[in-house]
Amino acid sequence: MDKDSLLQLLNQAKQAAQNAYAPYSGYKVGAALLDSHGKIHLGCNVENASYSLSNCAERTAIFKAVSEGVRSFQALAVWVEADTIFPPCGACRQVISEFAPNIPVIFGNAHQYEITDSATLLPSAFSLSP
Ligand code: THU
Repeated sequence: MDKDSLLQLLNQAKQAAQNAYAPYSGYKVGAALLDSHGKIHLGCNVENASYSLSNCAERTAIFKAVSEGVRSFQALAVWVEADTIFPPCGACRQVISEFAPNIPVIFGNAHQYEITDSATLLPSAFSLSP
């Protein structure tokens, strides 16, 4: 996938971040997950007063897609509405690895972005298949 396509996907993730429910951390995060058929599945973080129940944007997007019968993906973009950018958290890396063990991942904000891939984010991923 070329850089311009990934940047377009990042822009979709930016739109998704508008729906983030993040009253506790203040970090509004959006994810855009491009499936193998070209459809984009959006997700945002959804926090909870019981903090540990919060769900990240990446897992929201993946669970939405899988719950609709989609399990094959081409690329993932993650937008954070903050001054510093961060790659997907460890829990999300494991979930990404389950359904998309080797796809490009772009993460960024209004000022910067980085491009990596899911295999690099989680080397030696845990799996039950041999
Ligand atoms: N968050 C994400 O949505 N994705 C990540 O990969 C890391 C963190 C969210 C969770 C929480 O709502 C907020 O960012 C601060 O941790």
